[in-house]
Amino acid sequence: MASAVVPEVALQHGNARPMPAVGMGTAAFPATLEKAREAVLAAFEVGYRHFDTAALYGTEAALGEAIAEATTRGLVASREEVFVTSKLWSTQCHADLVLPSLRESLRNLQMDYVDLYLIHFPISLKPGPMAFQVKREDAVPFDFEGVWRSMEEAQRLGLAKAIGVSNFTTKHLDKLLAAATILPAVNQVEMNPVWQQRTLRNYCAKKGIHVTAYSPLGGQNWAGDGNAVLKSPVLAAIAKARGKSVAQVSLRWIYEQGLTPIAKSYNKERLKHNLEIFDWELTEEDHLKISQIPQKKIVLATDVFSPDGEFTSVDLSDMEIVEE
Ligand SMILES: NC(=O)c1ccc[n+]([C@@H]2O[C@H](COP(=O)([O-])OP(=O)(O)OC[C@H]3O[C@@H](n4cnc5c(N)ncnc54)[C@H](OP(=O)(O)O)[C@@H]3O)[C@@H](O)[C@H]2O)c1
Repeated sequence: MASAVVPEVALQHGNARPMPAVGMGTAAFPATLEKAREAVLAAFEVGYRHFDTAALYGTEAALGEAIAEATTRGLVASREEVFVTSKLWSTQCHADLVLPSLRESLRNLQMDYVDLYLIHFPISLKPGPMAFQVKREDAVPFDFEGVWRSMEEAQRLGLAKAIGVSNFTTKHLDKLLAAATILPAVNQVEMNPVWQQRTLRNYCAKKGIHVTAYSPLGGQNWAGDGNAVLKSPVLAAIAKARGKSVAQVSLRWIYEQGLTPIAKSYNKERLKHNLEIFDWELTEEDHLKISQIPQKKIVLATDVFSPDGEFTSVDLSDMEIVEE
């Protein structure tokens, strides 16, 4: 199977190498080390060099093993050819826990540095074991200044080439930027034709913050209410007219917005298929039709918390991640 050539995007903040324009998502619950490792190796074979993981996913070790094996097998010359993102979970969102948490991620990954380290959610939880979902009373006020200082320290120490955030709205970014001496290189958010987030994208463009798009194919149907992207009749009509799949139309649309999709597949054919988006274009009419698709978000701040119990020291509205 021939491997695809993927364009790269230069990040405006930090010292990371350019980011390949499509990344492979590794989140799968429950995480299976062997499946994740095999999927990453398959991704290497078809041309992926950009991988997304997180402490929460339990896939860091599998990703690290696969990258080590890809290097041994000569699929890449060295780790430097790979772009790796990991994320700080909310129980570690405390100024004194950022560096220990990143060091643990690096041990899992068998690496000296990650290319990008993100704050996973604008949510801080009492320190403790990582769990999903969590008790409402475990939410505590987010120390944006203290946590970001430690993220900046991680970049200064070279443990992360660039730092950023995930699931941040403009309100959260305002708070963070007021304290930042190093700007976030990336905001990773839910983004696809069914959740387009124009306000956030405009804001990030002005600040030079690159937006990466998670759930670019509509996600993994964790809530059980279907997939609004893959089942979109508007996207299906465009796909038919272009001789492409709905998945490719969604990924191409994200790419044409100047954003970087992070798409998960553990299937080699679909991994390859998802990289075949660089030698054709959507038309202006396609863009117009996509701009009119009714909007619906999948991931909500409430998903992090179990439904019972009370928020005792923080309002849910301060952590809300919905912003069109
Ligand atoms: N920062 C955050 O809070 C956050 C939240 C969610 C996700 N993420 C990251 O973003 C990544 C991607 O998002 P996601 O996992 O939610 O979902 P996604 O990439 O939108 O969708 C993945 C689903 O689509 C299927 N798929 C892949 N390619 C396909 C194709 N060509 N045609 C049809 N179906 C296809 C996959 O199944 P198969 O594996 O069977 O192909 C999988 O079930 C995650 O893995 C994770 O790394 C981050």
